[in-house]
Amino acid sequence: MTAQRGQGVFSPMPVSGIALGCDYNPEQWAPEVWREDMRLMRQAGVDLVAVNIFGWAHLEPRPDEYDFAGLDQIVDLLHENKIKINLGTGTSSPPPWLSTRHPEILPMAQDGTTRYPGGRQAWCPSSPVFRSRALALVERVAQRYGRHPAVALWHVSNELGCHNAHCYDEQSAEAFRRWLHKRYGTVEGLNDSWGTSFWSQRYDDWSEVQPPRQALSARNPAQLLDFHRFSSDELLGYYLDEVAVVRRHTDAPITTNFMVTAHIRNLDYWTWAPEVDLVANDHYLDHRLGDATAELAFAADLTRGLAGGQPWMLMEQSVGAVSWQPYNLAKGPGEMIRNSLTHVARGADAVCFFQWRASAQGAEKFHSALVPHAGTDTESWREVLRLSQTLDRLDEVAGTTVQTDVAMLFSWQSWWASEGEARPSQAVGYLDQVHRAYRALRELGVTADVVSPQTDLGRYRLVIVPCLHLVSEHEAAAISAYVAAGGHVLVTFYSGIVDENDRIHLGGYPGAFRELLGIVGEEFVPLPPGVRVGLDSGGSGGLWTERLRLTTAEARACYTDGPLPGVPAVTRNAYGAGTAWYVATELEPAGLREVVREVVGAAGVQPLGPEGDGSVEVVRRGDGRRSYLFIVNHGSAEVRHPATGVELVRGETVAGVVPVPPGEVRVVREESP
Ligand code: GLA
Repeated sequence: MTAQRGQGVFSPMPVSGIALGCDYNPEQWAPEVWREDMRLMRQAGVDLVAVNIFGWAHLEPRPDEYDFAGLDQIVDLLHENKIKINLGTGTSSPPPWLSTRHPEILPMAQDGTTRYPGGRQAWCPSSPVFRSRALALVERVAQRYGRHPAVALWHVSNELGCHNAHCYDEQSAEAFRRWLHKRYGTVEGLNDSWGTSFWSQRYDDWSEVQPPRQALSARNPAQLLDFHRFSSDELLGYYLDEVAVVRRHTDAPITTNFMVTAHIRNLDYWTWAPEVDLVANDHYLDHRLGDATAELAFAADLTRGLAGGQPWMLMEQSVGAVSWQPYNLAKGPGEMIRNSLTHVARGADAVCFFQWRASAQGAEKFHSALVPHAGTDTESWREVLRLSQTLDRLDEVAGTTVQTDVAMLFSWQSWWASEGEARPSQAVGYLDQVHRAYRALRELGVTADVVSPQTDLGRYRLVIVPCLHLVSEHEAAAISAYVAAGGHVLVTFYSGIVDENDRIHLGGYPGAFRELLGIVGEEFVPLPPGVRVGLDSGGSGGLWTERLRLTTAEARACYTDGPLPGVPAVTRNAYGAGTAWYVATELEPAGLREVVREVVGAAGVQPLGPEGDGSVEVVRRGDGRRSYLFIVNHGSAEVRHPATGVELVRGETVAGVVPVPPGEVRVVREESP
């Protein structure tokens, strides 16, 4: 227990060393299987097990009738087997009796239709009935197990907001009005912030304000943005209500699992992170993306950003395939270990999985697990055992932090605002632009901290600002001050366009960064998908161009054809003691990498990894006394990387160079220079 964080006592990790853990759903199995589970968990060296995630219907089979017999047995079994417990509050999915008796807890979609039970998370975040029934359960669970010696961590609900973040029923409407009232004080304040003089939307009374239900045309973008904020805050309020109950009964850390992942953007985790005792994330490879492995690295760096650079916990990942993508790809030999160690390289001190034993029934019966349907005479089980041994060898890395002097700004609010309904180009996706910039850094061998626009940037040599569409005057001023003091920034297009109320920063684009970048944009000139324009620096741009005028910047590349021949596409501006670059078009990956390489060099950043296609990742964790170099080889050829010290995965001394076979990871405890 080291420092105060959130409402609880901040304890970096519930288990020492690098923990191996999993979700465990024993209620799906007969008690004979539980004994076998304990034996296998011990064999696999499982340190931490999450139970009671979906326990409600078992714990409270009928209203106010509680039955803890099953959970008591499981908790005791785990304790006897010296396995620590990550105890779910059990509220993630209500039992059928609750929605039958109180259908008003069910969520409503934006078209006014109800979402029925039969799946999971079928509850409205603003439902008072749901909240009071859930908190009554939490009280019982916390009372019963709050002081149990095996309970090392509390797991509130599960992936809050995964399915039900946005509810449009009347209870949510009332809660939205209350939230708006608190934010704006008066209806006039609301009208001003939402720009309701447009399209006759002026409100005369709070009762007239609605959630942004499905409409006939594009909806008010500021209303949509506030509804995102409200919905995130509403669930955070719910989380804190559960925490307040649990905290009365325990000193153990309390958290919930975030979803820092490509396909979910419902919660503003910058506002959540200070409220959890430790940051925990669920990450699944998303093969719908161009490069799922690059996204893994990005998500891990962003999770570390949420943890303020401190170690964090990978609460869920999969051993092999998931079951919720259109094509659920299996992992190749060694891929699960390699990906696990990529999370560790980027700051995770615990590697946990969904789930222990593959379900025989239910909607996730095709999801992989530590114990597959085929049992333990399987390659995947043997790989789990290998992972466990490897994590044990890396125990000494726990507690160290990732060392880098590069940051990238990330903002859920910009994500929401930039993808409004009526905008210059529907083809510009926030996450896609962020990933492009991230990939350029990764391919240059540079690791970045992914941080909030409100972070103090002073300690970084270089800050990348991709597509930061929404930026307040205050945040923009801080970024400019960072550059004036000698920092380097690279800003990409569609940044700095609106303020926190989704109001354009007037006077020419990109309003918030115009002076910093030394340019004025007069007009956006997006390109239809597939159309490319040439650049005099070589290569081409696509998707987006702008009618730009230089004020103090110099042009580094101009268009040679297309709608804006001769107009600057890449600019550089000396600003105070620092430099600010702007990229006004979507460069090809190689072109963007060229620009980023130049900026990285100018900022004096020393890449740790080799330049390439990103398949070799090199990351350093340390704490001033100790230093560990992770070399992850996702590629198909051996890599030889400079390092001297002891290589922990194999327990060998390396002098000058460490060979890393294809698909493998090496971790060198570096000799002090
Ligand atoms: C999420 C949930 C788990 C499970 C997995 C499947 O992470 O928290 O309950 O559904 O997805 O990938």
